[in-house]
Amino acid sequence: MSTRGNFSGRIGFILTAAGSAVGLGNIWKFPYLAGQNGGAVFLFIYLICVFLLCYPVMVGEISIGRRAGLDAYGSYTKLGGKRWGLLGLFGIMVGIFILSFYNVVAGWAFGYFLHISFGDLLNQTDFSSFFGLFVNDLLDLSSAEGLANSNFIFSMVFMAMTAFIVARGIQSGIEASNKIMMPILYLILIGIIIYALTLPNAMSGVKFYLIPDFAELKIQTLFEGLKQAFFSLSLGMGTLMTYGSYLKKTENIPSSVAVISAADTSVAFLAGLMIFPLVHFLQFKLQVTEVATAGPPLIFIVLPQIFHEMGPLLGRIVGGLFFLLVCFAALTSTISLLEVPVAYLVDQKKMSRKKVSWGIALLIFILGLPIMASQGMIPALNKLAFYKDQDYLVFVADMCDISLTVGGCLMCIFITRRWKIHNMHEELEIGNPGYKNSFLKKYLSFTIQYVCPVLLGFLSILIIIDKFFGIDRIFN
Ligand code: PHE
Repeated sequence: MSTRGNFSGRIGFILTAAGSAVGLGNIWKFPYLAGQNGGAVFLFIYLICVFLLCYPVMVGEISIGRRAGLDAYGSYTKLGGKRWGLLGLFGIMVGIFILSFYNVVAGWAFGYFLHISFGDLLNQTDFSSFFGLFVNDLLDLSSAEGLANSNFIFSMVFMAMTAFIVARGIQSGIEASNKIMMPILYLILIGIIIYALTLPNAMSGVKFYLIPDFAELKIQTLFEGLKQAFFSLSLGMGTLMTYGSYLKKTENIPSSVAVISAADTSVAFLAGLMIFPLVHFLQFKLQVTEVATAGPPLIFIVLPQIFHEMGPLLGRIVGGLFFLLVCFAALTSTISLLEVPVAYLVDQKKMSRKKVSWGIALLIFILGLPIMASQGMIPALNKLAFYKDQDYLVFVADMCDISLTVGGCLMCIFITRRWKIHNMHEELEIGNPGYKNSFLKKYLSFTIQYVCPVLLGFLSILIIIDKFFGIDRIFN
């Protein structure tokens, strides 16, 4: 096992797992989902999902990984036989697809970081058309400058940074980079929040974010909350199983998981506290009562406009720091996503970590090309007829979301039916003497065997029906 590498200790593991969890999902998606789904009502539903469904699944995933000491496929196979290994392979595939679109969006954020910090992006007048042109600027070979500003290059560089870190191994690559990026990420986040709260009309943003609007409570709010919680905590596809396989036997899993979930949830919450005061500052400046905050436009159109309003110097500083924050959040997640297939090939096929990291990164980058092209360049991918005319990026992201809750459900069934819950408890007792007679043990027994498989299974089916047919049409 020592040749696989491991985390140096508790802090390293927690920061790295939290790094995986904290990502684009927290900084960009959580705030706009909360904004659209009734503010604090969404937060409340999200927290219930985290306590009731995500916490047990995360504990389960990490204990499987640590017990087996292998990649996702190897772990399921070792503890449950070849057939269950398929579930591990499924997770690895899902991870590959998540990374293929995630890296494209991360590339945009990286491009914005460079354009705002060192270029003249904030001099624009129409940020919406700028973004439209930007995402379609895939590869401009006409000049060196054009080439350097192409999305193809931004996303390739981002993937290369990911591969570089993963290739260096667990302690000196993955753990070391998380130990640098995560603290900086928190500092920038808190710094921007403090500044945002001093802006005119900031409190109106805080109110909008925190005062619950029960009129927005729909069945879809529950779906969104659940999907978001799974994605945000990196659950259901083997990332934390793989990270768990590098965890020393002396570490206390349940308490580490509590810290990781709290860290992730707090960043999501704080991101809203950063973004809504900014958005309401813009409303005040423009004298309008609403600006559109749904989807990608929030961070790529609305926020740059806000940085523009701050004036040239301050805008460059705050905007540059904001996109640096997004890049760090994304990079700590892309690393964890790439590690899943890399660990598989290293463990199962005994291939060299270096070669595999670069090879798979290249493959995933290529898988991302149609996603880049789906933003307008190839019309057929921009409007998928079988998917309510949404684009290919949205389609892949939605399919991955669904796979995560399904994967989580199947993992609970694996623990209950195949591996057996007493083996999980045995693993959790290591490094945690008080666990044996604890309430937590009962809670995990109950949730992993009954609550999680039933609810996750049921909700996954409803989510699939909703995605393809629209649940409103069926029930009304
Ligand atoms: N949790 C990450 C985020 O919130 C995304 C992610 C999903 C990373 C699944 C790893 C595995 O952005």
